[in-house]
Amino acid sequence: MESLFGKKKREPGGTLVLYTTRHGATQRYAERIAQPLDALVKEASYARVDRAKTYDAVVLGCPVYMGRIKGLDFFADHAADLAGKRLVLFTCGLYDPAQQDVRRMLDDQLRGKLGAALDDMIVFHLRGRLRWQNLGLAERLMMKALVAGIRKKAEENRDETEKLLLETEGGALDFSDEADIGAIVHAVRFGREEIV
Ligand SMILES: Cc1cc2nc3c(=O)[nH]c(=O)nc-3n(C[C@H](O)[C@H](O)[C@H](O)COP(=O)(O)O)c2cc1C
Repeated sequence: MESLFGKKKREPGGTLVLYTTRHGATQRYAERIAQPLDALVKEASYARVDRAKTYDAVVLGCPVYMGRIKGLDFFADHAADLAGKRLVLFTCGLYDPAQQDVRRMLDDQLRGKLGAALDDMIVFHLRGRLRWQNLGLAERLMMKALVAGIRKKAEENRDETEKLLLETEGGALDFSDEADIGAIVHAVRFGREEIV
């Protein structure tokens, strides 16, 4: 459809991929998810619900910092407006979501923030990365405090992520996995039922 200035107007439908990021891992996942879907990718804080409503599916990527899932507001605040759309949410954190305690912490937070609206969303927990050299002073101090806390734990009580955090202190740690992207793209295309 042509608009007044000859610029092509978007037809309703398609997928909008929103993300929040500090260090790029969530953004990178968002961009990789958007590629095969030919979706628009946008920083969540710039997204407007009246525009989002014109899409069939909305994906929201949220990083985890200091035990908190960031950037859930777009889904939390606009759940009613987005009802009936395919809503896919993914978190991006260092800790392993295959671990029951990590998974429970993430899911409890989602339930607390999104309430019943969560039942209509398809949720994935992905793993991110950490590069100490990219951290600002405040983040560096927080990570140092986290690492000091891990060091105080008895060795047998440290999980795999914590052991690696100690080993790589000051360096880099990368758990990002491209394989997770395929499952999300599939969920956007076919919904929850079709996931095998
Ligand atoms: C200060 C700080 C605190 C973090 N806290 C957590 C945490 O509580 N749980 C977790 O799984 N990952 C944590 N991470 C790791 C981030 O989730 C990871 O770096 C992720 O890739 C961040 O996403 P982003 O690159 O899109 O900002 C933390 C990282 C930093 C720098």
